[in-house]
Amino acid sequence: ASSSGVASTELGFKAVPVSTENRVVVPEGYSAVAFLPWGTPITGAYPEYRPDGTNSGEDQEQQVGMHHDGMHFFPIDLKAGGNSSSEGLLVMNHEYINQNALHATGPSYVNGLRPADEVRKEIAAHGVSVVHIKRDSAGVWDLVHGSPFNRRITGNTEMDIRGPLRGYHKLVTKFSPDATETRGTLNNCSMGPTPWGTYLAAEENWHGYFANKGASQPREQVRHGVGSESRYDWELADSGADAYVRFDITPGSGSAADDYRNEANTYGFMVEIDPFNPQSKPQKRTALGRFGHEGVIFAPVREGEPVVCYSGDDSRFEYIYKFVSSQPYYAATAGGYLLDEGTLYVARFNDDGSGDWLSLDLEDPDFAAKVQAAMGTTVGDIVFEGFENQADVLLNTRLAADIAGATPMDRPEWGAIDPNTGEVYFTLTNNSQRTEDQVNAANPVANNQTGHIIRWQEAGNDHAATGFQWDIFVFAGTQGTETVVDGEAVVTLDDDNIFNSPDGLWFDYNGRLWIQTDGSDDAPYQNNMMLAANPETREIKRFFVGPTGCEVTGVVSTPDVRTLFVNIQHPAGNWPDASDPRPRDATVIVTRDDGGIIGA
Ligand code: FEO
Ligand code: CA
Ligand code: CA
Ligand code: CA
Repeated sequence: ASSSGVASTELGFKAVPVSTENRVVVPEGYSAVAFLPWGTPITGAYPEYRPDGTNSGEDQEQQVGMHHDGMHFFPIDLKAGGNSSSEGLLVMNHEYINQNALHATGPSYVNGLRPADEVRKEIAAHGVSVVHIKRDSAGVWDLVHGSPFNRRITGNTEMDIRGPLRGYHKLVTKFSPDATETRGTLNNCSMGPTPWGTYLAAEENWHGYFANKGASQPREQVRHGVGSESRYDWELADSGADAYVRFDITPGSGSAADDYRNEANTYGFMVEIDPFNPQSKPQKRTALGRFGHEGVIFAPVREGEPVVCYSGDDSRFEYIYKFVSSQPYYAATAGGYLLDEGTLYVARFNDDGSGDWLSLDLEDPDFAAKVQAAMGTTVGDIVFEGFENQADVLLNTRLAADIAGATPMDRPEWGAIDPNTGEVYFTLTNNSQRTEDQVNAANPVANNQTGHIIRWQEAGNDHAATGFQWDIFVFAGTQGTETVVDGEAVVTLDDDNIFNSPDGLWFDYNGRLWIQTDGSDDAPYQNNMMLAANPETREIKRFFVGPTGCEVTGVVSTPDVRTLFVNIQHPAGNWPDASDPRPRDATVIVTRDDGGIIGA
């Protein structure tokens, strides 16, 4: 913020052109350096990264994972009320893996089974890394070797189930017959820092990790597309270890406590991790719903008011949700328990620019009436036979939202809240399957290849309100693509800002909006990128272009906005080290050569 206390959101840098180069491009006067690539040792015995792919599963459990995605920087002195910009905990998600890059040769199969250590390594390359980092007097960032905060959470870490689904019979497994625990978090796309200094990792495309070879599937799998084969065949590990065979969720002949038929019901949540407490057990917060969580964004908190957060479900025609806690927030006592009890709402965007938050609570008479009316009807592919209770509603959040009458969106990805106005922004990345007869005012493009960004203001600027007013901030696309308000083009894209498939979205602490892309990298867009936007004027400029084949996802700065961290996911070429035969996902540290504020 400036000395007046009002931050400028003007964009002071010169836009960079599109690029096909296998390197990161940033504006004149800026520098970019790769940091914490996949395989960097961060804990335990600090096993060195081996470019020949021969690191073991045990090594990977002590190294940075693959496919960096959402991340947050927690100032090291946060709990003491500080806001250090030179030391902190960088926490990041590892969404999925590149099996070919991960193994020396592989993935391999012997007599139809997979070597157990390959499976161990793949599971360990997923999850979350907590890395204690520090900047030296020369301005160079490094990890703090031996720090007790450094930690890996993987697809096998033990976790608690919290909220309404804790103890629910449809979460009973052999591992947890009382349905209070599970193992692992997977496909962690984006995230959200909580107002009390913890980190929520989202479970997005978790359905692909499970195989159900049974004759029929329960609705809580059908609505997510769980198949008869899993993405990586972990259930075929040759050791037969329980930690791996659990990904086969085919029902056995015994009871649910004898097998893993319910294992997939323990995924699809927001997972709370306390980076400042390395011994803490991650907590799956089920009151926020079970779906393809892209991430979460918390509204600013106020003493004595509920905690409010927003979460998108990134799949075609899925929804945007809002959770409002039952208990009020007080800074002195705030914690994850606030996320265990509350109301989950889903958004309806009306064509007149108004919007409504529709409750998914069986105690709400409107929702209860809709549930009653839907009984016996076909909802999507599911013949609806009612909900057992509120836990069942949350287990089947998508189905509940269908019944509530929410607006199917063009793949909601990240959300962000303008610190100056309180407006909520969401990226709608694309939706090639929307037909002419399925368009609505909030999703007005049939065969939406390039996406758009929607925003809304809650009634009375109260995030707990049940009504809002929305508009479209910008349509992505090629040169000349217009965003029109009241007959006037308020944005017309040109060479400085053509982009497609907005995904990552973040307001920095001064109020500049950062937009990251995960889309077509053909002409005219070329490599995926990050742009900055002035929310007041809708000026948009390309700030950063990633290396070949990557997606640019995950962005955060230090509190002073003088160090920016940006993640590069699934680069295709030999990046960041041209001499390394393997592509390595990595964080990029961007600074201004004059030490100034990024984007200003
Ligand atoms: Fe993992 Fe929706 O991006
Ligand atoms: Ca994403
Ligand atoms: Ca995406
Ligand atoms: Ca991705």
